[in-house]
Amino acid sequence: MQDDMIFITGAGRRVGYALAEYFLTQGHPVIGHHHRESVECEKLRQRGALMVQANFEDEDSVQQMCAQIESQCRSLRAIIHNASAFTKTHADAEQALPQFDQFYRIHMRTPWQINTALIPLLRACSRVSDIVHITDIYADNPNPVYDVYCASKAGLQNLSLSFAKQLAPKIKVNVIQPGPILFKEWHSEAAKKAVLSETLLGFEAGPEPIVKAASALLDNPYQTGAIIPVDGGRRLT
Ligand SMILES: NC(=O)c1ccc[n+]([C@@H]2O[C@H](COP(=O)([O-])OP(=O)(O)OC[C@H]3O[C@@H](n4cnc5c(N)ncnc54)[C@H](OP(=O)(O)O)[C@@H]3O)[C@@H](O)[C@H]2O)c1
Repeated sequence: MQDDMIFITGAGRRVGYALAEYFLTQGHPVIGHHHRESVECEKLRQRGALMVQANFEDEDSVQQMCAQIESQCRSLRAIIHNASAFTKTHADAEQALPQFDQFYRIHMRTPWQINTALIPLLRACSRVSDIVHITDIYADNPNPVYDVYCASKAGLQNLSLSFAKQLAPKIKVNVIQPGPILFKEWHSEAAKKAVLSETLLGFEAGPEPIVKAASALLDNPYQTGAIIPVDGGRRLT
């Protein structure tokens, strides 16, 4: 049983992995959720992280993951909701409707389920604790090609504000909105160029600015219900 752990969803690769690595380096005990197994999961285990598996489209799987956390953790310092799915809305409505269910489950229903189940552990933390929801600049300014994804991230953002109202002053709840942090493997060179040409700072950031934003939120005692863009200025163009 450990105290004041930081629970990060989607820690098996990319931004979630960078967050888990950072907090381990800072000496925090980390619980990393993963969906599919990866080399990075094994690296985190070797560094002492507790790794838990769940498919966020499956309520029972999420419930079992929360029970596992409750059995191995006395208190949580933070939950960072990073797990996400990102695809264009399918042109065929019959295939877009299942996408709706997928995004709704991963971005809204499961974060709500996790928060609700684990609030007692956040309350048991020896100091003020945190929830960080990672959304997207598209939550405020949607791209119609990704409308279903954008709407579900906007839903998560709205839930964050409700949680901030509900859980203060013991638990702070904030949002990080990334811009072009890490392209997907399926992004074409032309698409990357177009996105970066619309980004004031003009480069793909990598995970570090998200790590810095999450760390700053946890360190800041007077910030709740805030929505922080980390987007190189893309939202302005
Ligand atoms: N990368 C960017 O430029 C960018 C831009 C805007 C917003 N964001 C947001 O920033 C966060 C991190 O970005 P990212 O690009 O690192 O995210 P990502 O690679 O798209 O996904 C993060 C994690 O979500 C997990 N996941 C996917 N489907 C799942 C499911 N059904 N159940 C449980 N977990 C599932 C993935 O695990 P598996 O791979 O094992 O399925 C992955 O580890 C995300 O919330 C993303 O929406 C990122």
